[in-house]
Amino acid sequence: MCGIIGYIGTKKASPILIAGLLRLEYRGYDSAGISTVEKNGLSVMKDKGRVKNLYNLDGIDNLEGTIGIAHTRWATHGKPSKENSHPHLDNSNSFAVVHNGIIENYNDLKNFLLDNGYTFRSQTDTEVIPNLIHYYYTKDEIDDNYRVLRAVQKACKDFKGSFAIQVISKFMPNNMIVVRKDSPLVIGKGDKENYISSDIPAILSFTKDFYLLNDYEFALLSKDTIEFFDINLNKLDKKVTSIDWNTTAADKSGYDDYMLKEIYEQPTAIRETIGSHLPENEPCHFENLNLDKKFLSNINKMYIVACGTAMHAGLTGKLAIEHICNIPVTVDIASEFRYRNPIIDKNTLCIFISQSGETADTIAALKLSKSKGATTLAISNVIGSSITREADYTIYTHAGPEIAVASTKAYTSQVILLNILALYFAEILGSVSQEEISKMKKEILALPNKIEKALNTSTEIKKFAKKIYQEKDIFFLGRGVDYNTALEGSLKLKEISYIHSEAYAAGELKHGPIALIENGITVISVITDEKLVEKTLSNIQEVISRGAKTLVITNQTLPSNNIDEVIMVPNTNVLLSPIISIIPLQLLSYYISKEKGLDVDKPRNLAKSVTVE
Ligand code: G6P
Repeated sequence: MCGIIGYIGTKKASPILIAGLLRLEYRGYDSAGISTVEKNGLSVMKDKGRVKNLYNLDGIDNLEGTIGIAHTRWATHGKPSKENSHPHLDNSNSFAVVHNGIIENYNDLKNFLLDNGYTFRSQTDTEVIPNLIHYYYTKDEIDDNYRVLRAVQKACKDFKGSFAIQVISKFMPNNMIVVRKDSPLVIGKGDKENYISSDIPAILSFTKDFYLLNDYEFALLSKDTIEFFDINLNKLDKKVTSIDWNTTAADKSGYDDYMLKEIYEQPTAIRETIGSHLPENEPCHFENLNLDKKFLSNINKMYIVACGTAMHAGLTGKLAIEHICNIPVTVDIASEFRYRNPIIDKNTLCIFISQSGETADTIAALKLSKSKGATTLAISNVIGSSITREADYTIYTHAGPEIAVASTKAYTSQVILLNILALYFAEILGSVSQEEISKMKKEILALPNKIEKALNTSTEIKKFAKKIYQEKDIFFLGRGVDYNTALEGSLKLKEISYIHSEAYAAGELKHGPIALIENGITVISVITDEKLVEKTLSNIQEVISRGAKTLVITNQTLPSNNIDEVIMVPNTNVLLSPIISIIPLQLLSYYISKEKGLDVDKPRNLAKSVTVE
């Protein structure tokens, strides 16, 4: 969950590396560092704290090297400290390494290295990497241009776990080596310069041409060349992927925070995601997805597997697929799914949702499903991300880069894509009438304008945020699709405002949670399913009579009663309503976090992309 950046070219590397790290800081922000190849050897400058602290380090302006690696850390092994920060050097200061991931067998490797006379300065798993590379380097008797590469390759063969690694060495002052396994890493190709990054947006202002590495693929870079190798160091031919994201998509464009910008980008993100999937008077269409009627009719069940917000999108997808296609769907948290024994066979379709496409648990769940014979379909926002390369099929959300840790536009894009997917299945299966399908398509096309209207609730929401930002506990209620929205609203609030919050299915309230309702507590409810209005209203009355303050987000005309605040949002098909009703809840978390003076985009302890278990 750390961020790594590399540069090899003709310019001074250090400012480029720090600028890149600032863009990657959402991946981890407890310490940062850079290492460059200088005339007199490798320099390493690092410290605990935010990336911007690097600007204050003594001597950082004097670095002249045009090759360098850099890292922003989210601590796993060893507390945030200067010693534990990356880059790490081997004992002889000949190899500098940055690493994202976890070397699970580092204790065994450390003992092996200790027995061979190596010493360690940090508590990290990473420090075994440069030392093991050094060990293999000294054992190699052939002194050619590939000696460092061979040492890196041998070390990688010993590692268990996940890694994206960059290596520079005083023994190859004009080169850099990178390799990955289960952790993200991209190479940006420039003119007489090359860039390395954990994600595409961080280096999008330098190039739009990328090489995407697969597991155990190595790249040996100079400023003019990139050579690719497999695990046995056979040469590989890799193709450039051009990315059409524009650069403003990756900056704040005048907004105070990325999260606010991303909330307001939702109408565009939804328009882009709908894209050409709903051609007029024709069935829904997905490029590269060709599941036929025979396959779909034989499906006995579907799984939707994901983590965090993506899992909440999956819950809405379940309701759409079950309702329109009549196929049972189980939604699973990836970290649970991968360690139980899910019942899967060749008639199971497993759908994996991941904004980043790099979440370790989701990728592991996908691999497990494949090994059990399932057909796998990935939904991701990042072209060429790991999940898309593992799955049998991929469909993309087109939300553009999402930088804020708390997901907003990726969530609504995932929900819309799942609904379109449900329609796609339904059209092939003939499971609902053409009339219902046409109505739903119309509603989908109207969504971007309705989201714009929902964004207009921001003034009311901001006022409400001022009233409740000091609360210690907030509850969310809903039934059916609205329960899913309550779960996502509650998660947003926890993530960025640090207020304890719980979401309950409104009907479950009486079975325990109501014991927590006391005078003055805030209960937020979502009501968009007209069949369930009265049921949910009864539950709201139950909390009001126990002293709760209430806010209701709804698209229904509610009978006048004693609810404190009602926020109206546009009406739509109930299956699509989570896309609209979540908007005021995203804004609420945002404004509460601002009232509390917190860092909205980089909440404590969290990282955007969870590439470790
Ligand atoms: C982290 C992020 C969440 C995200 C989850 C899954 O927890 O903070 O915002 O929903 O990972 O990420 P993914 O990239 O797989 O959608």
